[in-house]
Amino acid sequence: MASAAVLAGTVSEMTESAPATQPKGNDQQTIYGTEVQYASYPSLVDRSVFITGGADGIGSGLVEQFALQGAKVGFADRQTDKAASTIERCVASNPRHTPEFYDVDLQDIEALRAALTQAEASLGEIEVLVNNAASDDRHTWQEMTVDYWNDRLNTNLRHYFFAIQAVAPGMIRSGGGSIINIGSSSYMMQEDFFPGYAIAKSGVEGITRTMARTLGVDNVRVNTVLPGWVATERQLSKWWSPEGEEGTLRDQALKRRIYPPEFAQMVLFLAADDGGACTAQEFLVDGGRR
Ligand SMILES: NC(=O)c1ccc[n+]([C@@H]2O[C@H](COP(=O)([O-])OP(=O)(O)OC[C@H]3O[C@@H](n4cnc5c(N)ncnc54)[C@H](O)[C@@H]3O)[C@@H](O)[C@H]2O)c1
Repeated sequence: MASAAVLAGTVSEMTESAPATQPKGNDQQTIYGTEVQYASYPSLVDRSVFITGGADGIGSGLVEQFALQGAKVGFADRQTDKAASTIERCVASNPRHTPEFYDVDLQDIEALRAALTQAEASLGEIEVLVNNAASDDRHTWQEMTVDYWNDRLNTNLRHYFFAIQAVAPGMIRSGGGSIINIGSSSYMMQEDFFPGYAIAKSGVEGITRTMARTLGVDNVRVNTVLPGWVATERQLSKWWSPEGEEGTLRDQALKRRIYPPEFAQMVLFLAADDGGACTAQEFLVDGGRR
């Protein structure tokens, strides 16, 4: 990503040089039976993007949506089968670049660092980082142990910081970058069935605001995007209940489910030059729930 002074030139160069085989883009998609039209971002073509937790759920949707934009995508996860399915779905739309998978347990910071080094060698310096991987397993405050506390923080917060630490030098060298941390409105809603998760998620916004100020001087933007309830396979198979959904829809202004591809649109905007003046912010994509 270039500094503001050369952005215009970069955009027109990308537009002019885009080959005829460039994927159709993100303009027309079907989301669970409804046809929608989304923006295509010229600045995302060939942009190198790294996504954690990209094998399943929202992360898998992000991998697909960035691939549709013509971005070079690397993603880390520990679910190899699901990662293969994500790549298969991407390949079906004939992307400009096939996403690359890195088999990593994100609790292992050395493994994460190694994957990012490999991704940079393959994709070029990372211009967009999406910290997304997390786990919302249910637990009570009474059963919390020190080991489980560490597990929750290491799964839901620690790798966010160390991924930023690893990619920021390259972003600074390239004149800028965009880091998008996926948060959760669960702690704002005072949800009480996963304290280790909700507490870690409140820290995501601390990382965003602190690092946005630290890295802003080098044109690196850092934002949080917070889902409300996004209907992923895991949510529907593990946590869904008629009463739960009824309560969510009662709270939301929009009386329908939110799906991963539509959540991804806010992330695309922040990753593209179009979001170039946005940093240190929280953006809710929750159907008007909070
Ligand atoms: N779906 C929702 O309704 C919802 C609501 C609020 C916040 N979120 C946030 O959105 C993001 C994505 O959530 P989701 O619903 O898609 O979750 P998900 O469980 O469907 O997907 C998370 C992905 O992260 C991976 N992952 C988790 N821990 C990992 C580890 N240690 N190493 C490697 N990979 C790991 C999983 O394998 C999985 O592929 C998370 O940050 C979550 O907190 C989701």
